[in-house]
Amino acid sequence: MSELIVEIDSLSKNYQSGEITVRALSGVDLKIKKGEFIVILGPSGSGKTTLLNLIGGIDVHTSGSIRVNAREITKLKEKELTEFRKEDVGFIFQFYNLIPTLTAIENVELAARLKFSRRMAYEQSMRILKTVEMEDKAHKFPSQLSGGEQQRVAIARALVKEPKIVLADEPTGNLDTETGERILSEMLRICKEKGTTFLIVTHNVAISKLADYIIYLKDGQIFGTSKNQS
Ligand SMILES: Nc1ncnc2c1ncn2[C@@H]1O[C@H](COP(=O)(O)OP(=O)(O)OP(=O)(O)O)[C@@H](O)[C@H]1O
Ligand SMILES: [Mg+2]
Repeated sequence: MSELIVEIDSLSKNYQSGEITVRALSGVDLKIKKGEFIVILGPSGSGKTTLLNLIGGIDVHTSGSIRVNAREITKLKEKELTEFRKEDVGFIFQFYNLIPTLTAIENVELAARLKFSRRMAYEQSMRILKTVEMEDKAHKFPSQLSGGEQQRVAIARALVKEPKIVLADEPTGNLDTETGERILSEMLRICKEKGTTFLIVTHNVAISKLADYIIYLKDGQIFGTSKNQS
């Protein structure tokens, strides 16, 4: 049996909005094997971002358990959690979160430095910026880039440190179909070559076709999974 990288049991997350409790996730069970390429689908507000944030250790759950890479991340101390986020997880956020005072390459290098020496970090950052076709704009600041260009920098930043798991929230939402598909096939290549696990929230049909399987979320619950025939 393949090794599990994510094991989630009875996971729930409530948000308190004044008097009202929003049940963002309720009773989610999920098992993901190492090296799988998985797409999460679901309507707006169904809990997709919440699920990624909990797996990536950047939000606090209400109940249940989340094991990533054989560690119960809900029980980690702040310092261990920071290490986990830095070393094991590559996050591609729905709204990019680039650091505005750093250029494109500096944003990528900051992540690369967690793993590589200064010189290697620069080389690896440039290499990955080339694969997302952003080498010409490597020295521009985020404010000088279009939404799609910022998105490509954010993708480069997540991939450069070769994390164990990549959590991507609509990573191609701002890209034209052709660029989006090129970047996706690059992600799939990394997935297959390095055994990186990908968990991608997307409505892009081309990505769903490439996925090992699709998880459907609705009202904070998994209401089905389907495996691709191809
Ligand atoms: N910080 C918060 N405070 C209160 N409610 C929140 C918070 N974050 C999310 N929610 C609520 O939790 C539910 C799930 O939100 P989530 O962001 O996970 O949805 P989503 O599936 O990612 O939606 P979208 O496709 O629009 O990005 C929604 O009802 C949302 O309003
Ligand atoms: Mg979302």
